Amino acid sequence: MKENILIVDDEKDILTTLNLLLEMEGYSVTCALNGEEAMVRFREKTFDLILTDIRMPVMDGLELLRKVKEADKETEVIVLTGHGTLENAIGALKDGGAFDFLQKPLNDIDHLLISVSHALERRRLRQQVLHSQKTEAIATVAAGIAHEFNNTLSGVMGYVDLLELHLAGNAKPKEYTKKIKPICLRMSDLSRQLLTYAKGGQYYPFPLSFRSLLEKELPKIQSAVPPDIEIEKYCLYDTDTVKADPLQIQIVLKELIRNAAEAMEGKKGRIRVVLEECVSGNISSVLAKPAGRKYLCLTVADDGKGMDEKTKSRIFDPFFSTKFAGRGMGMATVYGIIQKHDGDILVESEPGRGTKIKIYLPLFTEQCFVMAKIQD
Ligand SMILES: Nc1ncnc2c1ncn2[C@@H]1O[C@H](COP(=O)(O)OP(=O)(O)O)[C@@H](O)[C@H]1O
Ligand SMILES: [Mg+2]
Repeated sequence: MKENILIVDDEKDILTTLNLLLEMEGYSVTCALNGEEAMVRFREKTFDLILTDIRMPVMDGLELLRKVKEADKETEVIVLTGHGTLENAIGALKDGGAFDFLQKPLNDIDHLLISVSHALERRRLRQQVLHSQKTEAIATVAAGIAHEFNNTLSGVMGYVDLLELHLAGNAKPKEYTKKIKPICLRMSDLSRQLLTYAKGGQYYPFPLSFRSLLEKELPKIQSAVPPDIEIEKYCLYDTDTVKADPLQIQIVLKELIRNAAEAMEGKKGRIRVVLEECVSGNISSVLAKPAGRKYLCLTVADDGKGMDEKTKSRIFDPFFSTKFAGRGMGMATVYGIIQKHDGDILVESEPGRGTKIKIYLPLFTEQCFVMAKIQD
């Protein structure tokens, strides 16, 4: 996905040149003529990086820096400085939280691009850390509640069984106890899902051909989605063995395809399920894995309604749902399962442009077979 950069300068020529240059590098660029206009843009959209001049009418770059950091300290800012403002630029760096300053005129394009890419890299890394801290905290709470909940529920279910024993021939109360049981089972299912999110759930992995699993499972899943939605399968790679728990992978497939189908909101559409091989490091720096490892990548892509940034950032939170009758446990369960499999998940989505969820699972290579044999 393209990273968003906001350029702020009162000199139109600089705006035009920087805009062209950064767009050519693949960034999505927005321009503003002063700090005030920049703040309007900043409130409308999330920016990964702001490149701002210091001396500008209405609101200068230093005030903009202060306001931006107050609103979201994770947004990176690079200040552009003319001759008279060097001291201010150093101050912005030391006390204001700016990432870097660049001196105008911007003759050294390579220097500019390196600084931009380093600032964006720092933001990505920070977001990864924040995200893993957040998930760790939620997972701890979820696991604690799920355990407590399960224990209490076992007690309730036990007493319901005892009650039934003493109700022989007493039809009305027995009718009520019969109703309590499915409710308890539903709650127990919920606590199982919470535990899967927090700890990965019960996990019995073995070498598994993903292609065969797809061939077996997709027809079953197809019959559960509306008939107007077609599931297409593409296997782009021969080696497809992963060390995985087939029951858990079935859950992952089911949840991803169900969400994809629901995102079509009753319209006709296609869901593409693609299998391919990837090597970490080449894929995307978002994939937090050491470089050079082979992964099987399962993509589930839909042409549905897509997601905005806010939804995307919360999609794995337990109980987060934007649907009227959603439970918000599907993606949390997928997350727990993929973590347990030492895999990773990438979400690409934009409102109105569909969604791609990519699941990466370590490929089970010959070397793994040898290692597994030695360990046996
Ligand atoms: N393929 C998708 N397209 C659009 N939004 C999605 C998709 N997958 C997940 N989401 C968003 O993530 C939220 C959480 O998904 P999930 O955990 O499965 O819960 P639920 O489906 O019960 O809402 C959904 O409510 C939806 O907003
Ligand atoms: Mg769901």
